[in-house]
Amino acid sequence: MLIKLAITTALFSSVANAWSLHSISAGSNFINFFNFYNGADPTHGFVQYVDQSTAAAKNLVYMQGEQTIIKADNTTVTPGGRPSVRIESKSTFNSGLFVLDIEHMPVGCGTWPAFWMFGDNWPNQGEIDIIEGVNEQTTNSVALHTSNGCTMAGVNRPQLGSVKTPNCDVNAPGQGANEGCAVSSGDTRTYGRGFNSNKGGVYATRWTAGQGIQVWFFTRSAIPGDISSNNPNPDSWGLPVATFPFQSCPANKFKDLRIVLNLTFCGDWAGSVYGNAGCPSTCVDFVQNTPSAFGEAYWKINSLKVFQ
Ligand SMILES: *[C@@H]1O[C@H](CO)[C@@H](O)[C@H](O)[C@H]1NC(C)=O
Ligand SMILES: *[C@@H]1O[C@H](CO)[C@@H](O)[C@H](O)[C@H]1NC(C)=O
Repeated sequence: MLIKLAITTALFSSVANAWSLHSISAGSNFINFFNFYNGADPTHGFVQYVDQSTAAAKNLVYMQGEQTIIKADNTTVTPGGRPSVRIESKSTFNSGLFVLDIEHMPVGCGTWPAFWMFGDNWPNQGEIDIIEGVNEQTTNSVALHTSNGCTMAGVNRPQLGSVKTPNCDVNAPGQGANEGCAVSSGDTRTYGRGFNSNKGGVYATRWTAGQGIQVWFFTRSAIPGDISSNNPNPDSWGLPVATFPFQSCPANKFKDLRIVLNLTFCGDWAGSVYGNAGCPSTCVDFVQNTPSAFGEAYWKINSLKVFQ
């Protein structure tokens, strides 16, 4: 009887942890997972997002061996904003485990790169910022952005990072505009030049109605074997950088999210703090007139795996 019970429990917990592969986007098929967005930057960046054929013609998206490079223009003076790329997944998601393996991310004065997820009816469908920062930032910031009624205040959150702001509501009183609930990592391998000099690593994001949202970061030498073997068990991975339990935040604050990778310049965040970043001139002047400063403004991507 005891034995039978133990087996039942083991089976049950392995079922509860089971993630199966939904898609792997890598190599020359990486880009097919996405649509190109070429509208105006909603965050007022000094950027021109280009469509797929323009990106190909300008060599802003190309393969280097099996890796996909996605970059900004770094050869022309650009009075209308620096040409760059924003891609959004064709599919939308309502839960999942999203595993991005990258070797290099954009960095430098004026840059504002992000890997994130959002729903069309913003902020009512929610936003999850997985990798984000500006200028010469040295550590990553993870954040959620929602409508009113989602907070992480007073909730037990075992995580490596530290809480910057507790309220996910984009209009939360006492927080900056659209700050959301943000967690900063203290680890310089998670972002920017420190990330790149270490050949990057893996960001894994788990989103479930029962457990909320967790973001883990693994340096390249510490990527769990169960990720490489496509049989991931996040419960065995140790503490995430950031955790956002759905305790004082209803799970329905997040709905039909797309995965987005973007690189903008200046704008609401990078532009507003540019003066404190130790960067030359003004943000717009620098981004417009110094193409040679943008040789590091690129993503080098190994793969994006989605498990469901
Ligand atoms: C880029 O990503 C950030 C992610 O937080 C988002 O807030 C911003 O709107 C994005 N900008 C553009 C123009 O895509
Ligand atoms: C532009 O950036 C690429 C890497 O993204 C680099 O290989 C190239 O040398 C840069 N070109 C110039 C003119 O700086």
